Amino acid sequence: MDTHCHLNDTQFEQDWVQVWEQAQAVGVTQMVIPGVDAASSARAVEIADRLDGVYAAVGIHPESLQNLSDAEWDAVYELLRHPKVVAIGEVGLDYYWEGVSHEMQQEVFLRQLTWGKELGLPVIVHNRDATQDTLRCIGEIGTGVTGVLHCFTGSIETAIQAIQAGFFISYGGPLTFKNAHNVRQAAALVAADRLVVETDSPYLSPHPFRGRRNEPRQVNRVAEVLAEVRGWTLDHTATVTTRNAHRLFPRLSREEEEG
Ligand code: NI
Repeated sequence: MDTHCHLNDTQFEQDWVQVWEQAQAVGVTQMVIPGVDAASSARAVEIADRLDGVYAAVGIHPESLQNLSDAEWDAVYELLRHPKVVAIGEVGLDYYWEGVSHEMQQEVFLRQLTWGKELGLPVIVHNRDATQDTLRCIGEIGTGVTGVLHCFTGSIETAIQAIQAGFFISYGGPLTFKNAHNVRQAAALVAADRLVVETDSPYLSPHPFRGRRNEPRQVNRVAEVLAEVRGWTLDHTATVTTRNAHRLFPRLSREEEEG
């Protein structure tokens, strides 16, 4: 299962159905599409509505904060009621990007973490160069908020802190990069029941496909490397990470049982 792919990105505008079919053909039968603003969140829901096994997350990414209107906030909040919306995301802190202040990013992140807590929805968290504040914001909301640190490249200490706060750890393409020894070292040690995998398509293609458009079917490449790192079979890795993803996204499992 690909827990994070942007099938709503313009790079998939022409062939999102084929991309989904190709993923299905190699056993990647479920995926979650996160939004980064009101428009991409609405698009994620629209795609999820049309394809089996595809679910949406909606939220405001820190890079979408400039000139954000109240109407856009309302639109995102409204989408949270849609049955195929299984999470809030992707949201978080990006201190590499200097478009808006850290304070404003934190305020918006905290607001959406609070939604997650109130509505019982997991939060898909983006963190770039802001690990301490990310963990502090999560801690500020306290128990009752869950979610996932997406595309994790941090240390085992950071992973443990996030897990203690109720979060899962998601690995993507960077796990496979040649120089990513530290990422693989941490991935070997993360609690088995908190590991999930993703592609972050169309970005971050795994090695040896770097530089090309990433696609959900490539989550198998991430799973292969995770299997190597853990000393697991590929089958076991797929079973464990899919089971974990269903615990991470409870609404997804419920939809599945009903549907
Ligand atoms: Ni993403």
